[in-house]
Amino acid sequence: MPENIITIDGRQLEFEPEETILEVARRNGIFIPTLCHIKGARPTGACRICVVAVEGARALLPACATPAAPKMVVHTHSPSVIEARRTIIALLLQSGNHNCAIATNRSQDWTSFQQQVADYDQSEDLCPAHSACNLQAYAYKYQVDTTGFVRAKTDYPMEMASPLIIRDFSRCILCGRCVEACNTIQVNNAIAHGFRGARAKIVAMGNDNLQRSDCVFCGECIQACPVAALVETKSRYKIRPWEARHVRTTCHYCGVGCQLDLHIKDDKIMKVTGVEDARPNQGRLCVKGRFGYDFVQSPDRLT
Ligand code: SF4
Ligand code: SF4
Ligand code: SF4
Ligand code: FES
Repeated sequence: MPENIITIDGRQLEFEPEETILEVARRNGIFIPTLCHIKGARPTGACRICVVAVEGARALLPACATPAAPKMVVHTHSPSVIEARRTIIALLLQSGNHNCAIATNRSQDWTSFQQQVADYDQSEDLCPAHSACNLQAYAYKYQVDTTGFVRAKTDYPMEMASPLIIRDFSRCILCGRCVEACNTIQVNNAIAHGFRGARAKIVAMGNDNLQRSDCVFCGECIQACPVAALVETKSRYKIRPWEARHVRTTCHYCGVGCQLDLHIKDDKIMKVTGVEDARPNQGRLCVKGRFGYDFVQSPDRLT
């Protein structure tokens, strides 16, 4: 038997040098939830939602930051793993204004509860990330009940100074994905972790708004944010995921040829995202490719 074999959920799988448990699992279609992990950046281990049970280990280990090793035996959904994930999700929901109703104490069954959330749709009461939020999806998946958890409040107001990006600190789970996306993936170095404890937040230019910072408005941080802490101003409340028709195309602005995913509603482009894992841009875009689409449907166009 080759040396580089790991056992995940009873399956014996080969791994490459330096591959993590998460990478081996994903390559083989085994689901492990993640929030802070971002492809192309070093794992930060910030959220712990990816914890798995490794036989012989004294505690649960984060799959995104633990290298696969020979003879390692991993369980991705043992009772202790599921319980840990449910607690982590509950704590994240209660860490801010997650008003998609999951965070409230529920008295009805899950079907009625989901119907109640759907009934809020198209109103500003419901979060702009509803049904496009990883935290919400995991809360549904693991049927998280937050009874007994105290909801935290943030002192930081929503930042709407920029015409392109809204920062809602009340929904930030401090996963750090935006920081990695900005600094490691795009190498713009416009944002960073700031302050500590209950005052912790993602800061730009010391502690100013994005408009007055080094931000170049590439929007990579929005695409990376797993919740509604970073939202596009132009498309906010204008399109929900199930309303979108998707068209893949090539950006026309320059010769790089970035791959775009157009989110279309009523025959109008409402939003543009980069196509993940597609060459040459691997999901990344510049400000023109991501936000410069209004001309397509301008009444002033001659053709
Ligand atoms: S960010 Fe996600 S979990 Fe929070 S309110 Fe919005 S949809 Fe719900
Ligand atoms: S828009 Fe781009 S440059 Fe600005 S903070 Fe986000 S990732 Fe950084
Ligand atoms: S703004 Fe979004 S991506 Fe950045 S730390 Fe907060 S939740 Fe994570
Ligand atoms: S995804 Fe592994 S610690 Fe966050």
